[in-house]
Amino acid sequence: MAVYRSKTRSFGSVSFCSPIFVPILFLLLVQWCCVAVTTAYEENDKFCIRTQPMLLADIEKHVNPLDGDPNCKVLATTLTVKEKESFLATMCKDHGTSYKDTYYFFKLRNGELSGRGTHKEICDGMRNPLLAWVPYNMVLENFVQELNPKEQLSYIGKATDVDREKTELCHFSHTDLVTNITADLFACIVMIFEDNFYGQDANINVLVEINPIMYELRNITYLPWVNVSTSYKTLLDRTVLHNPNRESKQIYGSIKYGFVEKVHLNVSTIYSHNLDRLPLLFEHAGAVLELNDVGVGGVEVSTKAYFGRFMDARTSVNVEVIGQWAEHHQQFNADVFEYFGYGIKRYRNEIHHGEVTFTRIESAEPVYETPDSKHLAASTLHNMGGNKFERMEMADGENGTQMADWDDEELSGSSHDGHPYPGFYPWFVVGTIVVAVVLLTVVIGMVRAWSKIEEKKLYKLAASSA
Ligand SMILES: *[C@@H]1O[C@H](CO)[C@@H](O)[C@H](O)[C@H]1NC(C)=O
Ligand SMILES: *[C@@H]1O[C@H](CO)[C@@H](O)[C@H](O)[C@H]1NC(C)=O
Ligand SMILES: *[C@@H]1O[C@H](CO)[C@@H](O)[C@H](O)[C@H]1NC(C)=O
Repeated sequence: MAVYRSKTRSFGSVSFCSPIFVPILFLLLVQWCCVAVTTAYEENDKFCIRTQPMLLADIEKHVNPLDGDPNCKVLATTLTVKEKESFLATMCKDHGTSYKDTYYFFKLRNGELSGRGTHKEICDGMRNPLLAWVPYNMVLENFVQELNPKEQLSYIGKATDVDREKTELCHFSHTDLVTNITADLFACIVMIFEDNFYGQDANINVLVEINPIMYELRNITYLPWVNVSTSYKTLLDRTVLHNPNRESKQIYGSIKYGFVEKVHLNVSTIYSHNLDRLPLLFEHAGAVLELNDVGVGGVEVSTKAYFGRFMDARTSVNVEVIGQWAEHHQQFNADVFEYFGYGIKRYRNEIHHGEVTFTRIESAEPVYETPDSKHLAASTLHNMGGNKFERMEMADGENGTQMADWDDEELSGSSHDGHPYPGFYPWFVVGTIVVAVVLLTVVIGMVRAWSKIEEKKLYKLAASSA
């Protein structure tokens, strides 16, 4: 199963690290990185689920159920359809004295004890639990230390007597289990007749319910309702388009870029369908994403942006490729599958009107350093010496987002009548004047000093000659 784990993933893509965007996106990044912590289960490899029942013949031959997989500390074998029918017929119909009593079974999640239930839960038929048998000795070894010895309960079991070629539902006492009584004193009392007794060597299996570890949303069909909102823009890359030809030509370029598409499932639209709060697996873009307990996951996307324009002979132009982030809110119907571990999945139910938000770079646009010659003629007519940078496409919904700020800082800086750095121009003039004044002062000072020395020499000469 190809599962993307969001555990080790931060949602900041490389392009966020452009210094321009760091202050703007810092808060957003922090927020994203924090929610990337997941509480998904790590599958317990000591827990095995077998869906084929063990044949009486195998039991007779004393086939060790662990032979197949030496890792299994807890091996659960699911009930066959026939066994389930037989269970319902025996336990859920009034058949005499034992019906008044309550019989318990263990609940396991990921191979660990997660609770206990009564046979009445199963008889109610509200849910369709995955029931299985676990050998008595495995329950003894793995779960007894978690049971309070003072309780007085009866657990449901199944005993197989090889000699009589017979398997019967039975019940045994909590005390027998927690005190680990010797095999020959152990009794499993047959449900209906209450007259048969078995020792532990009569292949006692204990009834358990296997709880799902995760839910998997499959066969997702999106409803027509889509709500798209665009947000900030990201500088994806800078590049140069070059026309080496002697003629003006249409020239194309491309850049590769990658980002993490964020998937945010509104979990309350899922758990409201009578599901436990378990991690979710979500099919998206040909992968199965593991979402954390708040429904957040991500998928790495790498893609290419193509652009092109008409260029004069033997010219180059710098291009900045800008990506537009967008949030797609969508509703979907899906089939929910329960995942129990060990590759065992089961259809559970259908959900309607689940809600999910995809945050991704939706489009990319090139921004050229200089307009192309055709556009230049037009723009000089209408706006003498207009923007040196020209936007080839305007994205929708671009109203006062970060990009607007970025526009002002980066692009309008080069927009005043062909001065490369017009913001520096007045400072240049003032600086030049200051330097000139300083130089003038120095020169005047030097000239004065020089003339004083000359005066002294003259005086000395005059004195000596006198
Ligand atoms: C997927 O869902 C559609 C509509 O809910 C249903 O008709 C179809 O049978 C489902 N496919 C599978 C493979 O479950
Ligand atoms: C689309 O989403 C925005 C923000 O989440 C919300 O304000 C708006 O009402 C939604 N539009 C529709 C048609 O649901
Ligand atoms: C999630 O879905 C529920 C139920 O439809 C809705 O009330 C809630 O506003 C949604 N939450 C978000 C964050 O969209």
